[in-house]
Amino acid sequence: MAYAAFRSIGAYAPEKILTNQALAEMVDTSDEWITKRTGIKERHIAAKDETTSDMGVAAAKLAIERSGVAASEIDMVICATISPDYFCMPSTATIIANKLGLPGVTAFDISAACTGFVYILSIAKAFIESGMKKNVLIIGAEKLSAITDYNDRGTCILFGDGAGAAMICATENKDEAIIDIHTGADGTYADLLMTPNGGTGSPHDALEGEASACFMQMKGNETFKVAVRTLTKDVVEILEENKIDADSVKHFIPHQANYRIIKAVGDALKMREEQVVLTVAKYGNTSGASIPMAMNDVYESGKLESGELMLLDAFGGGLTWGSALVPFSPKK
Ligand code: ACO
Repeated sequence: MAYAAFRSIGAYAPEKILTNQALAEMVDTSDEWITKRTGIKERHIAAKDETTSDMGVAAAKLAIERSGVAASEIDMVICATISPDYFCMPSTATIIANKLGLPGVTAFDISAACTGFVYILSIAKAFIESGMKKNVLIIGAEKLSAITDYNDRGTCILFGDGAGAAMICATENKDEAIIDIHTGADGTYADLLMTPNGGTGSPHDALEGEASACFMQMKGNETFKVAVRTLTKDVVEILEENKIDADSVKHFIPHQANYRIIKAVGDALKMREEQVVLTVAKYGNTSGASIPMAMNDVYESGKLESGELMLLDAFGGGLTWGSALVPFSPKK
């Protein structure tokens, strides 16, 4: 049987930085409020002509280079994004595959908001274990600044841009295999986080004059409560089902939405400080890109060890959620 190994990670953050102080000049907020309520200090913002696919390509190039897999061996590209180059079509994954020079490779996007990376990881795992694909490039890429309302202090302080990518490859060695992935969704909470404009649920003509409908809208406080509850339940379940103690997780890499959410989940799991990966202060919430960007920071700091066990945990619009137990398995 083929198993799926998490071979490599890469990420990209655009050059421009938007600080809390700069935001305080745009809306009625302060560095103190943002820091206290979210832990965010700054976020990266893509250049005007920089697209989601451009950032995805930059992250993907690193992941491919670090994987030891030749580009010609890649047989599938999946992109998780809620801020695609084009809404509807073509998919951002096809544009990324083209920019990487991968003609004919299966490529598609999925929409699961901040849980996107865990969802595409589960899809890659399933395709590899079924024997249908061997080397799957997965990318979480977001230009959230393009769908953020910079007049809405409830959301504009949270979001940033960036991309992260990983190579998931077939292996016969069970020790290298991704152990388990849980994913779920509950549409009864759909209205907590949404971008109403353009879909068949709210066609353009019905929204004429409502500029804010193009942007992300969020019921922050309600989302916060569901996030803490769902994220904690999700990781407790995946650890219990696989009979793994939280202590044997080297790095817990949760979606980076809010320091207080991460702290609450980490505390509930009795995680030690050095286990919990925190990058929310410098990137803000980058939705589908947040987990791979955080993982890449650990990798580039030299702390991600071959064979170590990572625990991923995400929550986002939909509502969606997911967790994963993943050994880091670079090619030996
Ligand atoms: N600056 C100053 N004051 C503010 C700001 C701001 N930026 N934003 C809101 N406030 C005010 C509110 O108006 C309110 O004032 P009031 O008491 O006079 O009415 C007060 O601060 C408290 O507002 P809350 O919304 O209750 O603040 P809260 O502590 O919940 O923090 C936040 C808001 C940071 C948005 C938090 O709720 C949060 O992080 N929510 C979860 C976000 C999340 O996890 N999203 C999921 C993933 S995103 C995705 O899928 C794309």
